[in-house]
Amino acid sequence: MMCNSGAVLLVTALSLTGQPVNGFVSRLMPSSLPSASLSSPKYFLGPKAPGLLVCLHMKSSFPEDTSESTDFDAPTSLPTYNRIDSPSEVSPDLTPSDEQFAEYKEFDRRKVEFPLSENTETIPSRRKTRQETEAKARARFKSGDELIELRRKVAALREDLTYAKDFRDSMKRYTAKEKLEAAVQRVKKLEMSISNLCMQDPEFWYVFMLEVAAGADRRGDEDTAKKARLDAKEARRCIPQLNMHGLWVGKYGTHGYEMVNITYVGEHEDVLVATKVTGDQNVPRGEVSFTCNLSPRLQFQSASSLEPIELNARAAKQWGKRYLPRHSGKGQVASEGYQNAQWMDGQLILVGRFFSFAWLPISHQVFFGRPSPELVLKMLKEHEQNSKKDNVASMRRVAETMMDGAYWNEQEADDFFNQEGCFE
Ligand SMILES: *[C@@H]1O[C@H](CO)[C@@H](O)[C@H](O)[C@H]1NC(C)=O
Repeated sequence: MMCNSGAVLLVTALSLTGQPVNGFVSRLMPSSLPSASLSSPKYFLGPKAPGLLVCLHMKSSFPEDTSESTDFDAPTSLPTYNRIDSPSEVSPDLTPSDEQFAEYKEFDRRKVEFPLSENTETIPSRRKTRQETEAKARARFKSGDELIELRRKVAALREDLTYAKDFRDSMKRYTAKEKLEAAVQRVKKLEMSISNLCMQDPEFWYVFMLEVAAGADRRGDEDTAKKARLDAKEARRCIPQLNMHGLWVGKYGTHGYEMVNITYVGEHEDVLVATKVTGDQNVPRGEVSFTCNLSPRLQFQSASSLEPIELNARAAKQWGKRYLPRHSGKGQVASEGYQNAQWMDGQLILVGRFFSFAWLPISHQVFFGRPSPELVLKMLKEHEQNSKKDNVASMRRVAETMMDGAYWNEQEADDFFNQEGCFE
């Protein structure tokens, strides 16, 4: 009864826009949830409202529905940034090479992971609580290969659901009551299975909670909004591509190692921007190297997410995982002196605690790892020295141009050398 009404899509829309709704709907709306904390997963897995709520939400992303996809605007702070294109048909092989594996090992050897400024004994209790909450969130959501397998399962169930619905609708034309009832039950069961699986997908939960929060805001229900936002934040921490803040080092071909600083911009800070901390003659320090719009949409996967790379058995063993999630983005290129700067299609590929970015049209792929604090200092120092060297070099260039005719012709107009007594 709850999930099979054709009006359900509308219901979702209404509950999310906060417009007046009828009694049936308002019983299912977030505002009607009891006062328990939204951030407690168990509470949400409870017998009634949450599952149905998810089920209702899911309606908008079930295959039969033509819900509109969200259109994202590029942040204004970036240079020309086209809307992310749909993935091109020719998909290049972006499986990391053995060479990259060697680089990965090198990063792994030097890694300093999540350096804690406080030692464990002095962790304030507030922080401790946060860590515990995060651990709980991690236990609740699937990640890595498991998450990809979960999504495939959901996709298969959705297909089943399409057939189940067709079957149910055809049953409606006949009067066989028991058969119709069985078909209705089948649809319901599939919808609940899908909903329950989706609740283990952090991206789904993140978007869902943001929408619950937005709906609550519009109704002026601050309490629900606050709790939903907290829950969204918790889910967000379990989405790897939204937690890559800070410094990364990658080998930019012949330019050697360079450092980028990853930040997030946009309304929900879902647009990844990698700014060069050390640059090169083409794209200098302070400019954006690449960017990716990772905003999840109603369908709970980001607009830019592509099918993961499936590794062959050998590579899977090497990397310790079967699937590498990836997202489409834009990479910046320029000729020397940051001339003719332009954006081209790229892909961000997640490889566990590492990632790579590929500039597709020029087949340029850079593999990034976390630098140790020592490496950061060393690179910054070297970069500074190199910029100084660049200054020396440019002074030398000026000196050299002084040797060619044009310069001296100008100077000679002053007849400087012909002045008598000059060299005496
Ligand atoms: C990286 O970006 C963050 C956020 O904007 C900033 O606070 C930090 O200073 C940056 N780090 C470097 C080395 O540029």
